[in-house]
Amino acid sequence: MNDEGRGTGDGGRGVAGKLIFITGASSGIGAACARRFAAQGARLVLWARRRDRLERLAAELRAAHHVPVTLAQVDVRDRAGVQREGEALVRGDGAPDVLLNNAGLASGLSKLQEGDFEDWDKMIDTNIKGVLNVTRTILPHMVARRTGHVVNIGSTAGHMVYPGGNVYNATKFAMRALNEAMNLDVAGTAIRVSSVDPGFVETEWIRGSWRRSFPRCASTGTSSGPRPCIRDSSLFPRTTWPTPSPTW
Ligand SMILES: NC(=O)c1ccc[n+]([C@@H]2O[C@H](COP(=O)([O-])OP(=O)(O)OC[C@H]3O[C@@H](n4cnc5c(N)ncnc54)[C@H](OP(=O)(O)O)[C@@H]3O)[C@@H](O)[C@H]2O)c1
Repeated sequence: MNDEGRGTGDGGRGVAGKLIFITGASSGIGAACARRFAAQGARLVLWARRRDRLERLAAELRAAHHVPVTLAQVDVRDRAGVQREGEALVRGDGAPDVLLNNAGLASGLSKLQEGDFEDWDKMIDTNIKGVLNVTRTILPHMVARRTGHVVNIGSTAGHMVYPGGNVYNATKFAMRALNEAMNLDVAGTAIRVSSVDPGFVETEWIRGSWRRSFPRCASTGTSSGPRPCIRDSSLFPRTTWPTPSPTW
């Protein structure tokens, strides 16, 4: 994709008119993807728990790009709610061309031996079971329609661990396994499954918990923690590490 919008590159032409379903679209990477896809003429379905945020984003995108945007307030941990809203989506708009499994979070940076059970449940239920709930609901319709692309937002945290990352790391390692497993499961169908594994992106949770834990991150580049190197609007982040390499 490029920044110029529809018709200026292969990516733009490919996305125009497609139905793109984004979970966790109320902020951060999900909202940035929605803005980029809308600029390229995609039709959007946006899910998150914060309806007010979704409504503001939908209004912005309709006004700026004249694209259809539907939204639903859904907690991806709520399996019945996901199934209800997912089936309503398919009845209304048909199976999406793209499912972007983006909703996710990191909660806490404690060592495992000091870990908070609520943090663990939140991450496992959202980052793993939430993706399963949504994919199990939508994927059969893609398979039946013989077209569709599932894009899972993983993380570099699914490739290497960081101090206090324990359970978040585990959820993103799990996403990497699920991504590969989904590819096996759809082999022989026309469905594609991909992952995007971002490095640090300066979104709400990075500005919150990470800044509190690594207060000099990003601001000076001298912290012992990893340094966010891009901001919300970029879709293709990479990770940079402070120099010299962290010793923790
Ligand atoms: N930022 C980074 O450095 C980074 C790096 C690698 C990977 N990632 C991954 O990128 C994804 C997006 O994160 P972000 O950085 O953009 O964070 P963010 O700005 O906090 O956005 C997270 C999104 O997920 C939604 N969400 C969280 N829990 C949910 C739930 N139970 N049900 C439905 N929606 C839920 C949030 O919406 P509501 O609160 O309104 O529900 C929000 O829209 C996550 O999967 C994260 O693991 C982020």
